[in-house]
Amino acid sequence: MSADTAQRPVLVVDFGAQYAQLIARRVREAGVYSEIVPHTVSAAEIAERNPVALVLSGGPSSVYEEGAPSLDAAIFDLGVPTLGICYGFQVMARALGGEVANTGLREYGATDAVVANDGGVLLGGQPATQNVWMSHGDQVSRAPEGFEVLASTADTPVAAFGSDEKCFYGVQWHPEVKHSDHGQEVLENFLHKAAGLAADWNSGNVIEEQVARIREQVGSARVISALSGGVDSAVSTALVHKAIGDQLTAVFVDHGLLRKGEREQVEQDYVASTGVRLITVDAADTFLGHLQGVSDPEEKRKIIGREFIRAFEKVQRELVDEAKAEGEPIKFLVQGTLYPDVVESGGGTGTANIKSHHNVGGLPDDLDFELIEPLRTLFKDEVRAIGRELGLPEAIVGRQPFPGPGLGIRIVGEVTADRLEILREADAIAREELTKAGLDSEIWQCPVVLLADVRSVGVQGDGRTYGHPIVLRPVSSEDAMTADWTRLPYDVLSKISNRITNGVRDVNRVVLDVTSKPPGTIEWE
Ligand code: XMP
Repeated sequence: MSADTAQRPVLVVDFGAQYAQLIARRVREAGVYSEIVPHTVSAAEIAERNPVALVLSGGPSSVYEEGAPSLDAAIFDLGVPTLGICYGFQVMARALGGEVANTGLREYGATDAVVANDGGVLLGGQPATQNVWMSHGDQVSRAPEGFEVLASTADTPVAAFGSDEKCFYGVQWHPEVKHSDHGQEVLENFLHKAAGLAADWNSGNVIEEQVARIREQVGSARVISALSGGVDSAVSTALVHKAIGDQLTAVFVDHGLLRKGEREQVEQDYVASTGVRLITVDAADTFLGHLQGVSDPEEKRKIIGREFIRAFEKVQRELVDEAKAEGEPIKFLVQGTLYPDVVESGGGTGTANIKSHHNVGGLPDDLDFELIEPLRTLFKDEVRAIGRELGLPEAIVGRQPFPGPGLGIRIVGEVTADRLEILREADAIAREELTKAGLDSEIWQCPVVLLADVRSVGVQGDGRTYGHPIVLRPVSSEDAMTADWTRLPYDVLSKISNRITNGVRDVNRVVLDVTSKPPGTIEWE
């Protein structure tokens, strides 16, 4: 499944919390290829993957909790350089004969760590006291034999340890989070200095690998790709096009739930920059017809998903693979599946299924296709980097994530052509002002939501109005699994609000959503 199975990865062992993905990304940022494996992995399976190093992630608060995730101790006999983090640090300490005490003391948030014994290879050369991010109950009270204590905190005598001989290290804090002062340096010291790994992996060399792989998979057959206008499908389509040129046909379903200018962007800018052969399916009337009278979010999602498949199947019937026997349908389909989708669906790694991932247009498994998924091992920022390298326009590569069901799930209430027009205008204003203020890289995305079933009283000119509110939902996030609301500058908010209430009909109020995720999801529906 990996972008390059010949490449020996750093394996990040996932103990069930959501730190593993972040660690895997930070390892890649250090120029070393990484993948995630579940903690249930056996020593034999690890040996088979032949990793260059292991990183044990954080997890639940106590190794003593009932059902606390454990690790096959034989893994420590494989002689692979290993870094334990937080819970992984404690698992490691216990497995190697150290002591983990349940002291009742808890450390959460920012803490001062004091470097001991020169800090060794992990912390050497760093400030004697550094601010680190903690989140734990138990603590390592005694390091295993042969290990040197490398740091402590006021409450934790053994906050970091290491054995150069074994090339085993551990830290109680989270070096992968930005709140830890020298976090990335700790990871890099482990990878480059302790494990001796070169920083020679980058998302750029994925292009070459993938082009070769796609050619081999496809041969002379024809391929179709569902283009949604989003970053993932734009990049995966461009990558496949680079590999096989006109053997590829991209299909763009205009379901009428798109943002302003989106169709033109795909039909003009995208085609101009890639030269891809594109078919647009005009399906707005069909979609809106089926959405009539429906306001339940799940029902909307189901209808949109179903209609998308119908539109796509129609194209599939019409296009045939000329390279094959007469009339044979095309069997290859490109999908923009990303690594977080794979991990979160438990795909290939066996980790917890957090939520079923929603794909480009929600194509189901039973569509009879062999999938081409060139982004399957990549994170979003890596996908953007590849898109830029392939020469895609910034307006497409840099754009915010946009859900497959589109504006249909950003209208709270029934979806109608009239309401879509209102929301499209408001959304365009918000996006324009955010871009103008240079805030695109600061926010992950900013859904703009029309509360179509809510009205409030306002005054405009001399008259009373009774219009709808628009909600702004700017969020900051690393991966959309968790998010915080973005503290946008007041003057930008004010500009957006004024322009929307003055320029968009039937809207007389703009409100700001200040909910994190959890408990609120990013989209309202
Ligand atoms: P939630 O609302 O679950 O969204 O916090 C998390 C991320 O997923 C996007 N999203 C979707 N993307 N099809 C998609 O392709 C969908 O049905 C869908 N629903 C939510 C959302 O925009 C956010 O980035």
